[in-house]
Amino acid sequence: MGMSSGVLKKSLFCRLNQYRELTVEVFHLEFIWPGPSPRAGQFFMLKPQRSSVFLGRPLSAASWKPPDPDRGSAGLVGFSIAKQGKGTKELATLQCGELVELTGPLGNYWGALDPEAFQGPIALVGGGIGIAPCAAFAEELPPGTFDFYGGFKSLPFGLEKIPPDSCMIATEDGSQGRQGRILDFLEPTRYRRVYACGPEPMLKAVADLCKTQGVPCFISMERHMACGVGACLGCTVRTVQGNRRCCVDGPIFRAEEVLFDA
Ligand code: FES
Repeated sequence: MGMSSGVLKKSLFCRLNQYRELTVEVFHLEFIWPGPSPRAGQFFMLKPQRSSVFLGRPLSAASWKPPDPDRGSAGLVGFSIAKQGKGTKELATLQCGELVELTGPLGNYWGALDPEAFQGPIALVGGGIGIAPCAAFAEELPPGTFDFYGGFKSLPFGLEKIPPDSCMIATEDGSQGRQGRILDFLEPTRYRRVYACGPEPMLKAVADLCKTQGVPCFISMERHMACGVGACLGCTVRTVQGNRRCCVDGPIFRAEEVLFDA
């Protein structure tokens, strides 16, 4: 099977079902997705039909509601998005009912590299918009097997489905939860596994902490992506095994294998 035929099969124009503001800077889009079910950690390329931005935008799925055959409803996939660049600002102007081309689910998923992924106790660590794939994983994990650590600059978002008694929040400005960086409160040795997504300096700090304490750690990396399917080589992640493509070899990597730029 050629690469392009596989891609075509997964590319669908989907209707925006719901738009929600989470904070002034972050919003959530939910689409009707009749394609294959995504696993937590996988991502989609999003490109509005009326786009003036040439490339699609890679976004990890933040939520997935499977189809309901009894009611004849298709699945719903959700994305939490920070208004950062031209592409995401364009997504912020979408109206319900508008069509967006979704290509996915792409990449690997949280459990793909780790046969023991579902055995707790587990720490999920999300920083800022990196909350999204961690929250999606929390929905797949058995209740009571994980603690969720959410780090934010200011007001938290995206934690609606996280059980409050297993959720620790830290904000840099102290507006909610504890004041400080989320890593100041994480003790990896309390867990069998640590899974993290967030800004790269945070991921490096989590990776270092887990390595020092001998706790296996898996991280979801972010890169600019032109094709999303392994063809353009524009999404390199440097690892101890050489260069890897974030879109097809990731976005989840074993933390100890990643060579961070900073
Ligand atoms: S985005 Fe093109 S190879 Fe990864």
